[in-house]
Amino acid sequence: MHDTKRVAKAVLTNQLARFAPGMYMRLTGETGRGLGEESSGQVASYFRACFDDYFTRLGVAPSEIGTFLSGKRVLEYGPGDLPAVALLMVAHGAEVVVCVDRFPLMQLTEKNLAAINDLLSGLGAVERQRAESCFLRVGDPASGFNPDRIRYRIYPSGLSGLRDEIDLVFSRAVLEHVNDLPATFADMHAAMKRDAIAIHQVDLKSHGLHQANPLDFLTWPDYLWRLMYSHKGVPNRLRVNSYRLILAQTGFNVISIEPTLLADPADVRAARPVLALPFRQVSDEDMRWLGFWLVCGKKVN
Ligand SMILES: C[S@@+](CC[C@H](N)C(=O)[O-])C[C@H]1O[C@@H](n2cnc3c(N)ncnc32)[C@H](O)[C@@H]1O
Repeated sequence: MHDTKRVAKAVLTNQLARFAPGMYMRLTGETGRGLGEESSGQVASYFRACFDDYFTRLGVAPSEIGTFLSGKRVLEYGPGDLPAVALLMVAHGAEVVVCVDRFPLMQLTEKNLAAINDLLSGLGAVERQRAESCFLRVGDPASGFNPDRIRYRIYPSGLSGLRDEIDLVFSRAVLEHVNDLPATFADMHAAMKRDAIAIHQVDLKSHGLHQANPLDFLTWPDYLWRLMYSHKGVPNRLRVNSYRLILAQTGFNVISIEPTLLADPADVRAARPVLALPFRQVSDEDMRWLGFWLVCGKKVN
């Protein structure tokens, strides 16, 4: 009974998300960081931590970030409700950041404007001046983003359509939501220059859609999952084995791929007999991956 109600509600709201994505996002209050209450200071701290994580992962010391980013053209998939990491990228030397999203989540609310001001006040003089050039009226976040510095684009496909012009690609908590992962990796590959690098943090958890076992959201048949969620941007459920395959098929050279969280083997054993068809071939080891960091470049022949 509980499952029937859940399916009916999810299928109906999926149609709302399909035909009125902006309204659906407003009704759910989705920010991209979950639905919890946060202060502007917490929002700013979250984006500062995201920015720092990318460079820690890439092995770029804080004192080297300016040199690393200088003049770089950057692409971000799925910035969420605020292109704040893009702002920090420009502040620290990037020439331009293109942000592409499938959903119109960005909002310059009072809280988000306060978060931007918090980020600005944490910058040194040179970085602050660069960050202030990211707004249509220099230094005024409420005027919106200057497309010469931060280009925020919404496309129903979530794809950039760029060709050979990007030096650095990044995303956080996005790839597990994309509706056509091979298309997103193909778009990324096409957008990247020959020596470009891509870095992504991927969260393979259920995003609150499991019940007793963290892996039991993988028991819903694929057709039902799509009927309930395909237009809402909830997890596509692909496991790390699919990422490895798509990366190889697209022509990426994997520099590193490392788990951030592993499921308990007992949970894998418990979920195994009831897994939906697409997950039955996934090895126990791959089934344990609940998140990972990926760094990759283009294969050079
Ligand atoms: C969980 S949020 C993460 C937002 C942000 N990166 C952060 O860390 O707060 C996922 C983001 O991916 C976006 N997204 C979903 N499908 C996408 C697609 N196919 N292409 C690009 N972005 C997509 C969502 O609209 C949202 O902005």
